Amino acid sequence: MTVFAHRGASRNAPENSLVAFQTALDQGARAIELDVQMTRDRELVVCHDLTLDRTTDQKRFIKDLTLEEVRAADCGSWFHQDFSGQTVPTLQEVFRLVPPSVLINVEVKNHPCHQGIIEESLLELVAREGRQESVLYSSFDHLVLQRLHRLDPDAPIGALFYANILEPWRYLESQGIAPFSLHWAEEYVSRELVQGAQERGVKVFAYTVNQADRARELAGLGLDGIFSDLPGEAGAWLNQDDPG
Ligand code: G3P
Ligand code: MG
Repeated sequence: MTVFAHRGASRNAPENSLVAFQTALDQGARAIELDVQMTRDRELVVCHDLTLDRTTDQKRFIKDLTLEEVRAADCGSWFHQDFSGQTVPTLQEVFRLVPPSVLINVEVKNHPCHQGIIEESLLELVAREGRQESVLYSSFDHLVLQRLHRLDPDAPIGALFYANILEPWRYLESQGIAPFSLHWAEEYVSRELVQGAQERGVKVFAYTVNQADRARELAGLGLDGIFSDLPGEAGAWLNQDDPG
């Protein structure tokens, strides 16, 4: 089972910060999930929400700010004063921190104003940083997935869902998307879903699993992996030598 450190080791450090990713690596994570969006000057930064309000000391939409303005925000002190001074990382900084042996799931949290723009920038950055072999793209925005797939048919695509979607592989195929994986809300995962996907060579990963019992129950369904805010512990729950 793959254990993705969800937004880094986000129970132990401020989500989507360099220290959260470093903590995940220190805990032995072999896969990391993060959220990416675009600034007004078209730089790729790592943050879950469309605004800075919840996870920094600043407000406003990221899409309306330049990279310099986003960098002025402290993304650590809301979590704990020990982390004050952390800044919202760029995706490039994360690529340079995390070794290529670790898989990075880049979840695109795109504002519609950047549709048709963010995909090319993302693929260019991944190529420039030599991360093609260690990035898995995902998004709830399936137009983004379709564009990524058209721009680079080799780009591994994870299709995110939060619902009981019937035969999602048929829907995706009808839209010209050949997914590497389905990223499914853990409460909607079923044995039928896992089997149906795997019969078609598609993996199923469940988000977000922070309880040992639930992790083991999902493992019993034959799931391929989970996203967890506690990557080190999750690896231990699943009796893995390492959580990758
Ligand atoms: O990518 C899995 C999971 O992160 C999706 O939901 O809201 O945590 O980004 P969210
Ligand atoms: Mg996410």
